[in-house]
Amino acid sequence: MKQTMEQLQQECLQCQRCDLCKTRTNVVFGTGSQTAPIMLIGEGPGENEDLQGIPFVGRAGQLLDKMLDAVGLSREREVYITNMVKCRPPQNRDPLPEETQQCLGYLRGQVAIMRPKLIVCLGRIAAIRLLREDFKVTKEHGQWILKNGTWMMGTFHPAALLRNPGNKPAAMEDFLSLRAKLQEVCPECGE
Ligand code: URA
Repeated sequence: MKQTMEQLQQECLQCQRCDLCKTRTNVVFGTGSQTAPIMLIGEGPGENEDLQGIPFVGRAGQLLDKMLDAVGLSREREVYITNMVKCRPPQNRDPLPEETQQCLGYLRGQVAIMRPKLIVCLGRIAAIRLLREDFKVTKEHGQWILKNGTWMMGTFHPAALLRNPGNKPAAMEDFLSLRAKLQEVCPECGE
């Protein structure tokens, strides 16, 4: 029988597939509605996320919420949020390729269970693993790619926008495009 999201989460909460399990406080599995049409995929939990067990709850998360709100999307309804790795990399370093690889099964499971209509990679780490190895966020953000029957795009990571606010207008364009794409592929979603 097909695994449920709850079963997958239970398995993930026990995970010891890589060394990140040794330093985590909480596994950060994902948040939002399982029937959401949009999946947002970040890099990995930071300090606040590790402490609370919920993705994007720190400053970057607040910016993400504002951007979603500005285009009429919300975490509770249209969006499910998760990360490439479910445990915090020490000192917020980039996850190592082998850590991402070990964790990919959980993300694949989440996608298989939810079958989201749209997937957005937040930042380079998700984009190079899920879209194309040499994906350049600054050049290729906002471009929709149909992959295995799902429309996907890469955009700026909210933490990168905090460091580089000059890219915020371009990121907002991508969120507007997300809203428009949702209307195109699923007119009844988000009514
Ligand atoms: N950055 C991420 O990539 N994910 C989070 O959950 C928080 C910050």
